[in-house]
Amino acid sequence: MARENVNAEENTNVKDGFTPVEYDPKYILMVNNLKKHFAIKGGMISKPVGWVKAVDGVTFNLKRGTTMGLVGESGCGKTTTGRAILRLSGKKTAGQVLFNGREVYDLTAREMRSMRTKMQIIFQDPFSSLSPRLPVGEIIGEAVREHKIVPKEEFNDYIDRIMDNCGLQPFHKVRYPHEFSGGQRQRICIARALALNPEFVVCDEPVSALDVSIQAQIINLLEDLQEKFKLSYLFISHDLSVVEHISDAVGVMYLGNLVEYGETKDIFSSPLHPYTKALFSAIPVPDPNARMNRIVLEGSIPSPANPPSGCKFHTRCPYCMDKCKTEEPQQRELEPGHYVVCHLYDGESGVKHDAKGGAETDGENA
Ligand SMILES: Nc1ncnc2c1ncn2[C@@H]1O[C@H](COP(=O)(O)OP(=O)(O)OP(=O)(O)O)[C@@H](O)[C@H]1O
Ligand code: SF4
Ligand SMILES: [Mg+2]
Repeated sequence: MARENVNAEENTNVKDGFTPVEYDPKYILMVNNLKKHFAIKGGMISKPVGWVKAVDGVTFNLKRGTTMGLVGESGCGKTTTGRAILRLSGKKTAGQVLFNGREVYDLTAREMRSMRTKMQIIFQDPFSSLSPRLPVGEIIGEAVREHKIVPKEEFNDYIDRIMDNCGLQPFHKVRYPHEFSGGQRQRICIARALALNPEFVVCDEPVSALDVSIQAQIINLLEDLQEKFKLSYLFISHDLSVVEHISDAVGVMYLGNLVEYGETKDIFSSPLHPYTKALFSAIPVPDPNARMNRIVLEGSIPSPANPPSGCKFHTRCPYCMDKCKTEEPQQRELEPGHYVVCHLYDGESGVKHDAKGGAETDGENA
């Protein structure tokens, strides 16, 4: 389960030098240069002695009713990105998160409370995110009652309907989480999120802990619910085939940055960034203890507390040039809606932008 650690410290050394984006209603979510750094505290000193740059400038837009997949090795910042979007990790370090055009970090506590119902999260481990002491009906209904989603007299029917939508039976209401299989427990988590009538759901490795035979059922359920309730998803996963199947767009993360981003078919048919290429050619290593396949590339991922200079991937990149070690590559839109951050493409002309400087395509902010 994701960490509950709320890091109140702000990295004030970060220059928030980015161009703010204007709200475009076709996007439910606009993430612009989002940064989330965690303080490293040393011994007795209360002041931070360094920063873990878990998310270090992530930019993408999510179209309403679509799915954005987020891939990358363990520790690259996927979960932190999802949690920072939902404002679950204290303050952001820099950047913008516009949900339906409103900056999430500008909402008052009261506004945030009602916004929480619109933005939900489903975790990897359905067991640890369910209270063992509550019956399923209470787990699903607790927040429905609290947020007064439906009038009292409709409550029972509403919960039955939500459970039915998630493949659960009314008699399951009186049972406890330990009485269910892993797949059913994930259905309970999905029902709990769905009951709040969300518009956007962060799915953080929602099938990674499940048996392969059950994974497809949960993926199908998420797809059905998306269609029925017009949901938008940020789908975090190590499983590239699952991401290819479920996502409309894919972002590839490395050490806190999106190094490549675009429509799923473009990313999978013509990956451009050397890291994406390496990721796609890496064989997942089965780990029987973790019950999930992790992507393992050659060489170890550097620490986000001390990332390499220039291009952060230069210590592992087979195409590394001199300037890669010192100059940070900038994001370029090489094909419509297909963005890459790599010096290999510095000489290429990319996509033409209109007179206002906006690209003619959907996708990441240029
Ligand atoms: N609350 C926290 N305090 C300090 N460091 C953190 C915190 N949360 C995450 N990190 C660090 O931030 C980096 C990114 O972590 P994150 O969990 O976002 O990665 P991830 O891509 O989701 O990895 P995985 O695939 O293993 O789930 C890691 O180095 C992690 O140790
Ligand atoms: S910028 Fe250089 S080091 Fe980085 S991915 Fe591109 S070629 Fe490799
Ligand atoms: Mg994670």
